[in-house]
Amino acid sequence: MKEFEFVPFSEKQRRLLNWWRPGLKTAENDFVIADGAMRSGKTIGCIAGFLLWSQESFSGEAFILAGKTMGALRKNVIQPMLQILKAWGWPCRYIRSGAESRLEIGENFYYLYSAGNETGKNALQGLTAAGCYADEAALFPESFLNQMIGRCSVPGARIWMNCNPESPYHPIKTQFIDRRAEKRVYYLHFVMDDNLALSPRVKERYRRTWPPESVFYRRYVLGEWTAAQGAVYPQFSGAPERYLADRKWLEKNRIVYGVIGVDFGGTRSAHSFTLTGFTKDYGFVVVLDEFYCKERIDPERLQMAFVDFVKRAQADYQVYEAYCDSAEQTLIAGLERACVAARLSISVKNAVKGPINDRIAFYNSLIAADRWRVMRHCVHVTEAFSQAVYDEKRRTEDVRLDDGTVNVDSLDSTEYSTESVQNEILYRL
Ligand SMILES: Nc1ncnc2c1ncn2[C@@H]1O[C@H](COP(=O)(O)OP(=O)(O)OP(=O)(O)O)[C@@H](O)[C@H]1O
Ligand SMILES: [Mg+2]
Repeated sequence: MKEFEFVPFSEKQRRLLNWWRPGLKTAENDFVIADGAMRSGKTIGCIAGFLLWSQESFSGEAFILAGKTMGALRKNVIQPMLQILKAWGWPCRYIRSGAESRLEIGENFYYLYSAGNETGKNALQGLTAAGCYADEAALFPESFLNQMIGRCSVPGARIWMNCNPESPYHPIKTQFIDRRAEKRVYYLHFVMDDNLALSPRVKERYRRTWPPESVFYRRYVLGEWTAAQGAVYPQFSGAPERYLADRKWLEKNRIVYGVIGVDFGGTRSAHSFTLTGFTKDYGFVVVLDEFYCKERIDPERLQMAFVDFVKRAQADYQVYEAYCDSAEQTLIAGLERACVAARLSISVKNAVKGPINDRIAFYNSLIAADRWRVMRHCVHVTEAFSQAVYDEKRRTEDVRLDDGTVNVDSLDSTEYSTESVQNEILYRL
């Protein structure tokens, strides 16, 4: 483990480090919330401040360290925390395994919790804590947040949270930030310039990650609590023609391999397959072919259509994987049998089905980087991405409109085709 290489703390970070010091006006608060842009130095400021405060104020007490998942907590919080402790020369014991995963620093205990599942919430029950630190708190279920706050009952306990903004109707915004005087919340808003460790070049790269008109840019780059409204892929729907490709384009850009995504239709929805191809080092992500059928067809006809689709795909490209909507296990088994019978070598798998927002952010950033193409004949994919809008009636949740009037099936099958390599594509491993 190497030690943390500090650059000077920014003015905003120093406030986060010191707001609790006895005698300061800001120390009258019980909460601190640092929100704002990504990479703006919130987490490092919170870790350092939380360590200083908890060590100087308490001895022999328990504290909560919470992240959305254990993985995220270890990577984003524990890792840098251990490096910071090393740099400061503070000894620490890290007990990794078991339900009592914790850090022991000085006389205090820091227990690790994941907010993302019910066990996390249950594990909190019965604990008496002198404080908690919630990293990415806007991604926590409200029940966990309440439970966590309720556990901090030792006199002088304080609650530390940081997050990227979400919708303005999010409870962290409405219940804490907007009512900060009454709830005694010290509020600090971070922008990328509040992190002195970011080079201008890196800041510029983050600014270019999302289209300026997208909700992700407003939230993650500008750090604003904004509702997702209007077009889901604004840059694409504004000029779809710009992203269409033809045979000539394919001659110039060789496809290394392809993956199929499958969404099964229901009473109101269509069956949809998307074949996506990748050029060298994931330079371009290209929708090569599609199948779309709104009629109700029996499982045999669906299997025949799939076998045809796979044959067509394998005739032109290296295609060995299909990711299917995991809600339909019988249909998946049927496709698998049909491919075996047709002697096609393709592995039929369950789609990853991660958070929809991650998939939406993924396509928005591909489009912003001008790395997405759609073959001109794939009219359903083009139409689906042009039409996609957020549901005005469910503004707290960032949901795409799905009322039968727009094609969400092509969106799903297209996303399933890239989801397993989403991060490799974005960060080009
Ligand atoms: N004072 C500092 N010295 C050295 N590096 C720093 C300092 N502050 C922040 N960094 C580095 O800058 C990067 C971003 O900081 P940090 O993770 O705290 O940002 P964040 O606002 O929590 O970002 P996100 O919203 O993406 O979680 C990290 O690599 C972190 O180590
Ligand atoms: Mg962070």
